Amino acid sequence: MNAVNHQFKLAARPVGMLKPSDWSYGEEPVGEPGDGEVLVKILYVSLDPAMRGWVNDARSYIPPVGIGEVMRALAAGEVIASNHPEISVGDHVTGLLGVQEYAVAHGAALLKVDTSLVALPVYLSTLGMPGMTAYFGLLDIGRPKEGDMVVVSGAAGAVGGVVGQIAKIKGATVIGIAGGPDKCRYVVEELGFDAAIDYKAHDLDVALGEHCSKGIDVYFDNVGGEILDAALARLSRYARVIICGAISQYNATGALSGPSNYLSLLVNHASMTGFVVTDYGDRYAEGATEMGAWLASGKLKSREHIVEGLETFPDTLQQLFSGENTGKLVLKLAGD
Ligand SMILES: NC(=O)c1ccc[n+]([C@@H]2O[C@H](COP(=O)([O-])OP(=O)(O)OC[C@H]3O[C@@H](n4cnc5c(N)ncnc54)[C@H](OP(=O)(O)O)[C@@H]3O)[C@@H](O)[C@H]2O)c1
Repeated sequence: MNAVNHQFKLAARPVGMLKPSDWSYGEEPVGEPGDGEVLVKILYVSLDPAMRGWVNDARSYIPPVGIGEVMRALAAGEVIASNHPEISVGDHVTGLLGVQEYAVAHGAALLKVDTSLVALPVYLSTLGMPGMTAYFGLLDIGRPKEGDMVVVSGAAGAVGGVVGQIAKIKGATVIGIAGGPDKCRYVVEELGFDAAIDYKAHDLDVALGEHCSKGIDVYFDNVGGEILDAALARLSRYARVIICGAISQYNATGALSGPSNYLSLLVNHASMTGFVVTDYGDRYAEGATEMGAWLASGKLKSREHIVEGLETFPDTLQQLFSGENTGKLVLKLAGD
């Protein structure tokens, strides 16, 4: 194949906020699939807060992306050549395919998806990694019961929006925390949350006190920092705190801002548990089946925030940290 593969590679270890000079944009010939491998034309690239962590030279749940390597990213595309017995040309797949136009990957590392059920980007969103994060984090760790008070931060985002909707399905009262009136309106009017708090406009301690006068039974944390601390101060007895992420801290250059209200865990007999979605890799089918049925019946809504053009990658990734996305941020490549 003579086509050219445009790619973004990591050019420098970022310090603080990501900068355009942290990336290099270049091209290479499209690779040839070897034994058991397939060639994928990438149609959508998932942009995730975790990508900020993947470029730090620090110990984590996954090795850092090396300088000069194609930036790691989940992506979805169409198979255009296959040497794998169970994957055919024309199949749609998802996997860690990188920020590029074409990827060669082993068939065993890819997931085949059915675009007759939902559109391809939904497999990077509610039926992909963020949806699984919401599903297993909330249900396995948060264990919401009917009548519980569930609070979720990053409520208008990919994970938070699904968390709140599943908590409603389970009969909880759900309060979202999000930045700005439009996002707050969206989670209440579109997603069916009971209420939302605009943390940029209101005193969170006061607002949580008003909305959660009997305490928070489940707090699903996507942002960390001061918002986590405010939620800890309002826990009810036997509360469950899920540490999913801490986006407010991902660009920190000094010490992270940790919770000072942690003794609330002691006095409330509460738990705070961190998790990584890949812990649940062998149960994704379970999450996909149940969330797929909720999507089909209209109980669950999936929203993708789609930006076009591979070349916009550095600016578009930044939207996660400036809060410009509502729903799952996805980059759409030419050709779909
Ligand atoms: N543990 C896991 O396995 C796992 C898996 C997936 C994701 N995560 C984590 O889950 C969280 C949400 O991920 P996502 O993909 O759903 O992203 P997202 O919520 O769709 O997008 C990020 C959102 O974070 C908010 N934000 C940015 N900076 C903030 C700050 N300083 N303070 C408060 N909010 C801020 C913005 O919303 P506002 O406009 O509302 O501020 C922004 O839209 C992230 O922390 C991510 O790392 C963890």
